[in-house]
Amino acid sequence: MLPEILESPLNHSILKRAQEKRLVEIHIHNLRDYSLDKHRRVDDYPFGGQAGMVLQCEPVDRAITALKEQRAYDEVIYTSPDGETFNQSIANRLSLSQNLIILCGHYKGIDYRIREHLITREISIGDYVLTGGELAAAVMADALVRLIPGAIGDEQSALSDSFQDGLLAPPVYTRPAEYKGWAVPEVLLSGHEAKIRDWELQQSLERTAKLRPDLTNN
Ligand code: ADE
Repeated sequence: MLPEILESPLNHSILKRAQEKRLVEIHIHNLRDYSLDKHRRVDDYPFGGQAGMVLQCEPVDRAITALKEQRAYDEVIYTSPDGETFNQSIANRLSLSQNLIILCGHYKGIDYRIREHLITREISIGDYVLTGGELAAAVMADALVRLIPGAIGDEQSALSDSFQDGLLAPPVYTRPAEYKGWAVPEVLLSGHEAKIRDWELQQSLERTAKLRPDLTNN
């Protein structure tokens, strides 16, 4: 609905570089371009008399149909607070897809028939309500694209992210080894590779148990 909101996050940093390197193509489509209305309207009043506007079937159907004529899609995702909650494991699986459509939700919602007939997956980025699905789509695109091999400089670093192994990442430090009397943990300066990996794992376990005990219960 509001392509401008998507432009900036998708055209900077890692997402920009991944597109330049041709690791991914991201196309933003404006549903208004698929409206047959002379004012390019895409929403209308809801049946039943509630407040708010609802995105109509026709422009969404025409947009999705036009895209499907060009390529096959693994999923047609709808961003909605009542979808399944997005997490790293969904990101990992979706990043292996060839082609995805993400339909951004709209204030009050879209005509439910679209969800019944065209949407294959509904995803929420958390239990709070955004004004539209654009930021949710940008969040998902960011999480997916950075997992594509080559998208981030050091491939190891996507694997060592928090959540990637069900654990929070260990703390990281850089020079100087002491700042205002605040010291970096000794072990990291020891040069002892095995001890360092061991310390990191211990930190990950402790931080996860303390900050996100729910992750270890799964
Ligand atoms: N649209 C509005 N709120 C949302 C949320 N939390 N997740 C995904 N899409 C949304």
